[in-house]
Amino acid sequence: MIGMARILITSGPTRQYLDPVRYLTNASSGRMGCALAQAAIDLGHEVTIVSGPVQVPYPPQARIVDVVSTEEMLTAAEREFADCDGLIGVAAPCDYRPVRVATDKIAKTGQPLVLHLIETPDIVATLGANKGTRWCVGFALETDDHRLRALAKMQKKCCDLMVVNGTEAMHAVDTRVEVLSASGDVLDRMEGSKESVSRGILQIIQRVLIEKG
Ligand code: C5P
Repeated sequence: MIGMARILITSGPTRQYLDPVRYLTNASSGRMGCALAQAAIDLGHEVTIVSGPVQVPYPPQARIVDVVSTEEMLTAAEREFADCDGLIGVAAPCDYRPVRVATDKIAKTGQPLVLHLIETPDIVATLGANKGTRWCVGFALETDDHRLRALAKMQKKCCDLMVVNGTEAMHAVDTRVEVLSASGDVLDRMEGSKESVSRGILQIIQRVLIEKG
């Protein structure tokens, strides 16, 4: 099919284990990744989803690669991106991991527990830095000063478009977004179900990134 793109979507949260039973994670349901995948499939594109642990049922037409940690998500996303034309990074990877993971369950002592955390790799930034002729779309969840912060993220992560949303989107059915171009223009503002907003986002990706190529 002419104009068919192979699209990689990173979706859902990741987990960083402290010990065999406890982990750090982010609030993310995978719903937006699911809706974006469906919108891309409906336009005739081929979709691979690298996903952390979620409950949502992804479209059966998509290829799903399951991962748990941010490091696993990066490894899988780098491998899958090699065969793709573009990336939609909608996952909420856990940004910190414990310096050491206990092999046995950490026992309670009645005292405070100090955790030493270090940053995990940034998946979109890593793929963006090596994207070549491929395109990258990032998401930014901001609580304040959202446009300025999103622009800074777009540059740092080498994205071609950035979708900005507020915290009210977490685990919710509806969402409200702004789509920013690389030059900082607001291309669109959308509000509604994650399905309808995803269709709108895919139309912009189609026009600005896929048909242009
Ligand atoms: O820096 P922040 O997490 O706000 O950036 C959001 C964007 O970066 C999202 O597209 C998210 O999927 C991506 N990201 C990532 N790897 C991380 C952190 C964020 O790909 N470790």
